[in-house]
Amino acid sequence: MTRKPIISGNWKMNLNHFEAIQTVQKLSYQLTKEDYAAVDVSVHPPFTDLRSVQTVLDVDEIPIKLGAQHCHQDEKGAFTGEISPAFLAKLSVKYVIVGHSERRELFGETDEIVSKKIDAILKQEMTPIICCGETLQEREAGETESKVLTQIRSALTKRNADVVSALVVAYEPIWAIGTGLTATSQDAQAVIGAIRAEIADLAGADAAAAVRIQYGGSVKSSNIAELMAMPDIDGALVGGASLETEEFAKIVQFRNVRS
Ligand code: PGA
Repeated sequence: MTRKPIISGNWKMNLNHFEAIQTVQKLSYQLTKEDYAAVDVSVHPPFTDLRSVQTVLDVDEIPIKLGAQHCHQDEKGAFTGEISPAFLAKLSVKYVIVGHSERRELFGETDEIVSKKIDAILKQEMTPIICCGETLQEREAGETESKVLTQIRSALTKRNADVVSALVVAYEPIWAIGTGLTATSQDAQAVIGAIRAEIADLAGADAAAAVRIQYGGSVKSSNIAELMAMPDIDGALVGGASLETEEFAKIVQFRNVRS
């Protein structure tokens, strides 16, 4: 089973809509047809940028996929400040990050809410990028697998194999996010391998062989090739380094980078 790599840029709360337009245009000058054939590329701008970025991708026929960083679990209602997954689908958003550790830690997103959001995203025929990961304290206490696999079970239990096959999971050790610390490729592989084994238990071997699993946490052009060489790592969720178009393009072009 060959899985097409997916590299996603999570811009977080950076770049206004003018800067966003420039950023995707610059990125598009650096990426080639071969890159898009080899790798799915998504960018996840803030909500206020989405319409502008969608227009640029559309008008200039740029095959970068549009992504969002978050959404609400309901389709509409009295939820001041929230964004419906239906609105995102209308903007041709393909991927929605869900359960990012910053949402879990700073905005109280629980496993239960994450699971409802996955339902809501799937209902709109978008693909969730489901984040999981442990804190440094949990890693040092030897609880990495139990933490991560609990998050995975909660997100994926009772989903049918076809649905699970098409999902994206992102393993992001919290201590590696924005810190410059990266899990070694062997450590990342060990956890991602355990995630895939858990998915085989939950949804069957075919779904586990098809589901794409990203690594995230201080990914850069200097460590991407090594990570991508691991058998179970299918891509990256990139924060800081996705704001620099040259650096992000090099990450997408990991095939040309020597580790
Ligand atoms: P980072 O962020 O690449 O800046 O560590 C990754 C993420 O939070 O998705």
